[in-house]
Amino acid sequence: MPSADPIVSAIVEKYRGDPTCVVQILRDAQEALDWVSPETVETIASLLKIPRTRVQAVLRFHTLLYDRPHGRYRVLFADNITDRMTGNIALFEHMLSRLKVKRGEVSSDGLVSVDLTSDAGMCDQGPSVLVNNLAIPRITARRVDEICALIRAQAPVDEWPAELFQVNDNIRRRETLLTPIAPGVALDAAIARGRQGMLDEMKRSNVRGRGGAGFPVGRKWETARNAPGVERYVVCNADEGEPGTFKDRVLLNSFAVRVLEGMAIAGYCVGASKGFIYLRGEYKNLQAKLQREIDEMRAGGRLGASIRGAAGFDFDIEIRMGAGGYICGEGTAMVTSLEGKPGRPRVRPPSMVLVGYLGKPTVVDNVESLAHATEIAVEGGARFAKRGSRFSTGTKLLSVSGDCERPGVYEYQMGVTIGRVLEDCGAKAVSAVQVGGASGMLLTPDEFSRRIAFEDVPTGGSFMIFGVDRDIFEVARNFAHFFAHESCGFCTPCRVGTTIQRNIMDKIAEGRGAHYEVNELKRVVEFMRRFSHCGLGETAGNAVRDALNKFRPAFERRLHGKDFAPAIDLERALEPARRITARDDAEAHLVTEG
Ligand SMILES: Cc1cc2nc3c(=O)[nH]c(=O)nc-3n(C[C@H](O)[C@H](O)[C@H](O)COP(=O)(O)O)c2cc1C
Ligand code: SF4
Repeated sequence: MPSADPIVSAIVEKYRGDPTCVVQILRDAQEALDWVSPETVETIASLLKIPRTRVQAVLRFHTLLYDRPHGRYRVLFADNITDRMTGNIALFEHMLSRLKVKRGEVSSDGLVSVDLTSDAGMCDQGPSVLVNNLAIPRITARRVDEICALIRAQAPVDEWPAELFQVNDNIRRRETLLTPIAPGVALDAAIARGRQGMLDEMKRSNVRGRGGAGFPVGRKWETARNAPGVERYVVCNADEGEPGTFKDRVLLNSFAVRVLEGMAIAGYCVGASKGFIYLRGEYKNLQAKLQREIDEMRAGGRLGASIRGAAGFDFDIEIRMGAGGYICGEGTAMVTSLEGKPGRPRVRPPSMVLVGYLGKPTVVDNVESLAHATEIAVEGGARFAKRGSRFSTGTKLLSVSGDCERPGVYEYQMGVTIGRVLEDCGAKAVSAVQVGGASGMLLTPDEFSRRIAFEDVPTGGSFMIFGVDRDIFEVARNFAHFFAHESCGFCTPCRVGTTIQRNIMDKIAEGRGAHYEVNELKRVVEFMRRFSHCGLGETAGNAVRDALNKFRPAFERRLHGKDFAPAIDLERALEPARRITARDDAEAHLVTEG
């Protein structure tokens, strides 16, 4: 077996020996060597001159990186609830049996492993799989057979039929955002307005962040611009990990010019000369195309020094790939991950806008928010603000999936009703809609007149539809599994709470639950909401809480017995785990700071 050292050295060199690129280095090393061995970790650490424990911590943090042999072909079936609804498990089992391999294990010839993963951002065309991180949507039994044959023939993945990797945009409705703006037009418009003028237009537009939290974008940019220091950064949050969301995928695939020029406009307003796109690890299909777009912009004077001839307008963009981990979509975790550390959320204050990437002022904005900046540059803030509702201006992209005739991306003015969306996508006999993904809200037919807007039903864009035949308990159980898997483990209420929540849901599913378990579920949900460190834990119980409140019979029919057991004191029960976390935190500190 040839030594891995020259391969790893070349990879580290490609990234200029920059320790902030450790995720990229680990991804490339895995691609070349199939997994990341302890020796590879050692080599990377010594070449980057950082502790081995730091490389190891990053490796273990990400679900798409493997610290034990995983075969040359690594197949992951997306297991979001909508994938379940389209029969992913039967197809998964079909593949396991065709390849004669057990879930999560490597085949005896060391060739292939097959497992499940949370979500692949393809809910409009599921079930889907990732093969060596490349997405293959619309999986059928025939496709499974085709993939198995290619694996058995040991065909290199980049030589597989391109048709397998064809991902459709499925744009069903468009207004102003899903409309191209010719290259350079938005940049010229921003330059003509000047830095302060463009910032004023952003504020006038009242555009609020499309990643879910809805913070006013113009205000965020202004704070960064006024922050002390000369170095600033722009981060495009393209992690899109919320189950059921895929609209950023479509923007990046077909409207990349708008997103990239939006980033440059952000840089112009805040005074940043460097931007990162943190691209979801599962969107590897988009990486090369996006890079070509960036190169073309640079060659055409739309990136680089003195953009469009404007003195002092210097801005460039680098793509950084994620490697699996929903939590890396959280702004502070993303910045930590960009720095080459495990993507755990930071304690705030200070806010990222003041102390972000490498301690410098940093704006983190969602893909859609940045694309809106181009529209505002061209037409002005006042015109933008005429669309939508009073507190939620402009249009919003919805990723519509589940029980409907036409899943895909729909653009509406903010304020559209749930009922209108259901009508447009051909959804009939609907029992519930989950808006905002696993962390969002479960709405029932009596709420379908409610509106998509920050003042009513806020959302990052996920809109999952469940017909009357669907078991909402199983929907909530799927989300409970998702959160237990995705909790980063940093704080006890979330790490232990999500595990307890998942275990209780499983117990009830197996018919071993009583009213006692239901009461405990309520307490755990509340405990996570109140005491978790970040938004993941705070919202991890939303789906279970809503399902309990709105679909109680789905729980009741699985229960047995009466409320016979005394309620446990959750605070006391969690105490030992809290002590362990404190110890882990201290160690983690040593690892990341060491
Ligand atoms: C667990 C968690 C995951 C998140 N994932 C994403 C994501 O995938 N994309 C995103 O834009 N924002 C995500 N966010 C929100 C970000 O923290 C942040 O608010 C957002 O990127 C800011 O951009 P915006 O102001 O343009 O919305 C997530 C938040 C949490 C708590
Ligand atoms: S709430 Fe969950 S995801 Fe957030 S820091 Fe705590 S353990 Fe990590």
